[in-house]
Amino acid sequence: MSTPAKSRDFGALTGAGRDPIFPSMAILKIARMGHPVLARKAEPVVNPAAPEIRRLVADMVETMIDANGAGLAAPQVHVPLRVVVFQAPDERADPNVEAAERFDHTAPLTILINPEIEIVDQSVEAGWEGCLSVPGLRGLVERPAHIRYRGFDTEGRLVARTAKGFHARVVQHECDHLDGILYPQRMRDMTKFIFESEARHWMPADGEQ
Ligand code: NI
Repeated sequence: MSTPAKSRDFGALTGAGRDPIFPSMAILKIARMGHPVLARKAEPVVNPAAPEIRRLVADMVETMIDANGAGLAAPQVHVPLRVVVFQAPDERADPNVEAAERFDHTAPLTILINPEIEIVDQSVEAGWEGCLSVPGLRGLVERPAHIRYRGFDTEGRLVARTAKGFHARVVQHECDHLDGILYPQRMRDMTKFIFESEARHWMPADGEQ
């Protein structure tokens, strides 16, 4: 979809008005770099608990899991609203982090509506990123390593956490999508913008990021 959607009229996109005989979740089409929806600033959600937002989130989770992604932002499924889903499972966390410090490095499947990020300290970390909207490529991106974030879930409850490592990275990557920013725009060194098929030259075989 190339025309901007408002929160009240994207029901047709998310399937909210679909035949109730087929109420199951849907895998949505993912926008790729170059689509205008990825470059614009997304709009705040007026009511995080609205049924059409729950439907959107359910479809985003289904789409993210199907695509084997760690996170997905609503603009990536052509919906310009401030909604992201992500997870930071234990196996993605830096293995050198001690057990006692691991909590901030991981997150269960999380929904964040109208998220806000605060940088806790200015130290940055470089990490390889991929994006479902930039398929087949990886890039080395420096980001703040320690953040605090907050947003709302689909019950309208506040979610507030601190995050480090991969957890901090995935949240910042997804929230960048809400401001029309893709990770290549965060890169400082374009010699570290590579095809996934060449990733073995640069990093251990650690699967999708
Ligand atoms: Ni992305």
